Amino acid sequence: MIKIAPSILSADFANLERDIGRIATADYVHVDVMDGMFVPNITIGVPVVKSIRPTTSLPLDVHLMIVQPGRYVEQFCDAGADLVTIHVESDTEEALHCAIDRIHAKGKRAGIVLKPGTPAEAALPFLEKVELILVMTVEPGFGGQKFMTDMMPKVSALRALIDEKNPACELEVDGGVDPETCTLCIRAGANVLVAGSAVYKAADIPVRIAELRG
Ligand code: DX5
Ligand code: ZN
Repeated sequence: MIKIAPSILSADFANLERDIGRIATADYVHVDVMDGMFVPNITIGVPVVKSIRPTTSLPLDVHLMIVQPGRYVEQFCDAGADLVTIHVESDTEEALHCAIDRIHAKGKRAGIVLKPGTPAEAALPFLEKVELILVMTVEPGFGGQKFMTDMMPKVSALRALIDEKNPACELEVDGGVDPETCTLCIRAGANVLVAGSAVYKAADIPVRIAELRG
């Protein structure tokens, strides 16, 4: 079953509760956290995660685009994140292992994210201990960018590695996913699709979420 994780980066921040209510038929709420350092944009922080937590029963998929994410993983877990993903490029391997351990110690799921320029092999040191791998299909930082079709071989390579080493691990894609590109992602082996603008710009959001399931 393909899962859909709408990104609230494309929601109306003055009406987050309303806009989270509009994605009730999805599987996760994708929350993009940016620090203006790891990416050139600043978005949502711990207090917003805490405020939206009681507005939905969907799991919160918190995508940390911040330097040295280990500094904040416990705060995001305590604020109500169910799944916390950290970028493989954001710290040393040792520090990332430590951050993953601390997410797990909070009883939450952990994931590793790969920017477009980062090869599939970069996930290998973490593959057997995480619950999700996220492949970026745009440069992280902004919603509404064009889908990078050339990331599909990386998704396929990670699907093969996951099937071999950690079959329960989810494989997520993020950036430019719409009713056309979703098919490529599913064919390459992704099972969780993030979509921001394709969901929130749709005339009928539940219909769009159903379309994205392929
Ligand atoms: C980009 C974010 C994405 C973004 C996706 O840095 O990680 O989650 O919101 O938005 P769309 O689907 O519009 O590309
Ligand atoms: Zn994201």
